[in-house]
Amino acid sequence: MFDLEREYLIPFYRRQRVLFVRGEGCWLFDEKGRRYLDLVSGIACVSIGHSHPYFVERVFEQLKRLVHVSNLFYTKPQIELAMKLRGISGMEKFFFCNSGTEAVECALKISRKFTGKKKFVALVNSFHGRTMGSLSVTWKEKFRKPFEPLIQPVEFVKPNDVYDLERKVDDQTACVIIELIQGEAGVFPMDVDFVKAIFDERDEHNFLVIFDEVQTGFGRTGRWFAKDHYGFKPDVITMAKAMGSGFPIGCVGVTSEVAERLEFTEHASTFGGNPLACVASLATIEVIERENLIKNAEKVGGYFKERISELSEDVRGFGLMIGAKFENAFEIVEMGLKEGLILNATSEDNLRFVPPLTIGRREVNLAVEKISHIIDKLKYKTDR
Ligand SMILES: Cc1ncc(COP(=O)(O)O)c(C=O)c1O
Repeated sequence: MFDLEREYLIPFYRRQRVLFVRGEGCWLFDEKGRRYLDLVSGIACVSIGHSHPYFVERVFEQLKRLVHVSNLFYTKPQIELAMKLRGISGMEKFFFCNSGTEAVECALKISRKFTGKKKFVALVNSFHGRTMGSLSVTWKEKFRKPFEPLIQPVEFVKPNDVYDLERKVDDQTACVIIELIQGEAGVFPMDVDFVKAIFDERDEHNFLVIFDEVQTGFGRTGRWFAKDHYGFKPDVITMAKAMGSGFPIGCVGVTSEVAERLEFTEHASTFGGNPLACVASLATIEVIERENLIKNAEKVGGYFKERISELSEDVRGFGLMIGAKFENAFEIVEMGLKEGLILNATSEDNLRFVPPLTIGRREVNLAVEKISHIIDKLKYKTDR
């Protein structure tokens, strides 16, 4: 499979050398039946754990009944999901798509339509996706450069720097788009004062505030959304990743005021909001509610943070979205695989932990033991 991958797939990915065939709860199994503790969840997606029986049953039942008809017609799960999302997110109206980057594209378009203005303001170290619009508001030069010219104008503000913010927003600004906790950057939360300053500027310059909750949504941080830690209501919110616990679905939520100015044909998606994806999301939300996974994320996340602090002097995050400084992070990830531990490094000196929200203290203890063991091994190697 490793050779076939090289021969047949475009080389966009550098994968770890493991072939997964099955998952159960917090565990993944390779083709030889070896098991691995999953602290990545398919990049913060599989929030209710792999192959959750209720999720499997609901998706299977829908699969047998109806998969897709397009948005030329009405389907019940789409309306039910929108109703559910109003309850958990506080946003009023919704548009469904299939991924995070699509949600961001739609949000950016909405900001231009609503304000009649052009300029996007994003943050240094942001990540919003890889399509042309979302890439334009993504910080990393390496991702953007080969595809320029991208959408203009865009300004990048330093996170938590109110002075820089005040300099870069003006009457031409259509939106400020931010991750309240920067995920791909390595888990870096925003200060409440900085977020408040964005809303103060909005009131002066009439732009839209977009919270990109693609990575932070659906209980990951110990609340339904990261915004619930901050107490601000954005004009637009983007969601995806854990929304279908691994089943592809994305969404944009807006206030009624924003929705009133959006019209027929201004945006669309063939697959967006299909019955199968919507049932996957409804089942995900039901499991989160029934099994109190948000409380679990808060409690076990707190414990995880405490335990990881024994190994790292810089630990950040909320709930089960945790970043921590570790030298040789890429090597730790590679050695983790050999130890039966699935880890993720966002840079050479930072690990990001985003396990399924079902994880317990026992698994956390096991993970910390294994990481500690790996660090000892690495120390021994460099000392020699
Ligand atoms: C905050 C944020 N926005 C958008 C995206 C893009 O999502 P997708 O990969 O589903 O297009 C990501 C992906 O990591 C993300 O973390």
